[in-house]
Amino acid sequence: MNIQENISLKPLNTFGFDKNAKFFTNADTVENLKNALTWASQNKQEVLILGGGSNVLLTRDFEGLVVKIELKGIELIREDEKHIWVKVGAGEVWHDWVIYAIENNWAGIENLSLIPGTVGASPMQNIGAYGVEIKDVFESLEALNRNTLELETFSHEDCSFGYRESVFKQKFKDKYTICSVTFRLNKTPQFHVDYGAIQDVLKEKGVKELSIKAVSDAVIEIRNSKLPNPKEIGNAGSFFKNPTISQSQFTELQSSFPEIPGYPNEQGIKVAAGWLIEQAGWKGKRFGEVGVHAKQALVLVNYGNGDGAEIKILSEKVRQSVKEKFGIELQPEVNFI
Ligand code: FAD
Ligand code: EPU
Repeated sequence: MNIQENISLKPLNTFGFDKNAKFFTNADTVENLKNALTWASQNKQEVLILGGGSNVLLTRDFEGLVVKIELKGIELIREDEKHIWVKVGAGEVWHDWVIYAIENNWAGIENLSLIPGTVGASPMQNIGAYGVEIKDVFESLEALNRNTLELETFSHEDCSFGYRESVFKQKFKDKYTICSVTFRLNKTPQFHVDYGAIQDVLKEKGVKELSIKAVSDAVIEIRNSKLPNPKEIGNAGSFFKNPTISQSQFTELQSSFPEIPGYPNEQGIKVAAGWLIEQAGWKGKRFGEVGVHAKQALVLVNYGNGDGAEIKILSEKVRQSVKEKFGIELQPEVNFI
């Protein structure tokens, strides 16, 4: 275990904010992870677990130990006629794993192409896009209990997955470090191509016979057309979650805003936060080095030399104005540090 001091986290968060870690280490084995956590507790240091840094907002230097998860490996566990079970190390890059699965003809995660970050963070908020969430292909995970330093297995049920939610963001926040995730993928694809945008791209490309590669390529094209590439403009994807409101509130809003996009779910109507933010006048607005993306109002951006604290202030203003205009309280998706 190699503990470094005063390390810049700028290359390790996709917003690109230049905040420091007082102490920093990589964990490429479970043993190293245990040693790092032991060192932190002996030295009374707070711990921040970091994957790809694509869903964190660093508003300050971290006065403790940052542990970057580098646990690697892709292992075929078992298969039957229909399915294949694969255990993937938490430090594997999510999109590389998606491409690996597609190359092996394992179906189920092609709609989740190009989501930044690591496999270990994927269950944290039950990542999702274009009609698929990881809960749809999740079998189990292994996580290190940060108190006992024992590895524990979590079943699907144990994780309490919801929209951008899991037990690791709620009851077990900061209590476990995910070390590997086991996925159950399909040998025969079940395509999820209901999204209009996917249909449009497939048509435009003249795709006659669906394949998981064709779906992945379509998703990549759509994402590249509206989401800023963090290598070019700092961001963490959607800054807020899409809120769910009651049917009666939705009907009332429709009388003033007939265009409001809403999608029924079990709890009520899910409303597009990007639309609310655009209607509140924020889309494309720039304030010095930070702003609201011109092609997707749900994405807050750092043009290069911004500060996490400025994004925090901007996000509060956006939230306040959406509340005033629509009476809807937006909740951040991004994890504030
Ligand atoms: P980090 O940002 O490093 O960490 C996120 C949180 O998880 C932190 O609280 C961290 O402490 C914790 N954490 C990380 N790894 C572990 C671990 N092994 N064990 C325990 N805790 C851990 N998300 C979607 O769901 N759908 C999208 O379509 C999507 N699109 C995006 C597009 C862009 C351009 C960007 C920048 C982000 C997007 N995101 C999307 C958000 C982000 O990619 C995901 O949340 C991703 O899973 C974060 O992974 P990470 O490794 O970067 O996590
Ligand atoms: N919209 C606007 N203005 C905008 C942005 C969006 O009017 O500036 C409208 C669109 O016209 C559309 C609706 O809002 O009617 C939805 O937009 P989009 O399809 O772009 O998806 P989203 O709801 O903004 C969600 C996820 C994304 C995910 C996509 C695709 C959340 C918080 N975000 O975005 O996830 O990739 O759907 O499934 O659920 C992320 O979590 O970081 C993320 C990028």
